[in-house]
Amino acid sequence: MSRTLEIARKRFTAKVYDPERSLSPEEWTEVLEILRLAPSSVNYQPVQYFTADTPEALDRVAGCVADFNRERVTKAGHAIVCAVPFGPEEEHFRAVLAKEIADGRHPGKEARSGLDAGRRHYAELNALTPADFYEWGSKQAYLAMGFLLFALGDMGLDATIMEGADFKSLDRELGLRAKGLASVLVLSVGRHDPSEDRNALKPKSRLPMEALFHRIGNRA
Ligand SMILES: Cc1cc2nc3c(=O)[nH]c(=O)nc-3n(C[C@H](O)[C@H](O)[C@H](O)COP(=O)(O)O)c2cc1C
Repeated sequence: MSRTLEIARKRFTAKVYDPERSLSPEEWTEVLEILRLAPSSVNYQPVQYFTADTPEALDRVAGCVADFNRERVTKAGHAIVCAVPFGPEEEHFRAVLAKEIADGRHPGKEARSGLDAGRRHYAELNALTPADFYEWGSKQAYLAMGFLLFALGDMGLDATIMEGADFKSLDRELGLRAKGLASVLVLSVGRHDPSEDRNALKPKSRLPMEALFHRIGNRA
């Protein structure tokens, strides 16, 4: 079995954390760097990540998640709130292009302006209403979280991705609306408590292949 498949089989959603075994600053920095590298549509990178790594910050986030999720934030030791914008911004287009140029992505001027125009076109297609743009950004947030969840499994770290939160109250707590943003997802990261986290021992359960996969066309 490949190591990759092994990770997919082994990783699980942590339900109870050991606060004594939270991440070191170096591990946390690496986690954030992995997240920075997550892909996004036309490389627009719409997701803004609000990070909590102190008891005070974790309490603020925990106060906005569902009761059953609260200790999954406070005890984990680290958390990330994903937030996305309601519309494209000129400054953001420019920042992405400038960074791509600085990183050496675009050898010629023509390629640069073509890619910039393509990105603007595609982002605008998804910005017919503020709700559309929020939805487009949310998809990028979910993708980034999936990307990170797998990486955390590889790093031997545990995480809880949470939809169970009052996102309106998170927006208020973090002043997100004033920044043109709204929260979408919360992720806590830490190490589970082996003596309390029964989820760690449960076998994984997924529907069988034939219930999920549908081969298009006939076999050659
Ligand atoms: C989008 C999303 C939202 C979730 N929200 C929560 C949550 O609020 N609290 C929680 O404990 N688990 C949450 N989960 C975890 C799922 O219940 C879990 O991934 C699923 O049961 C499969 O189990 P596994 O991750 O251990 O393989 C969420 C998972 C996803 C993908």
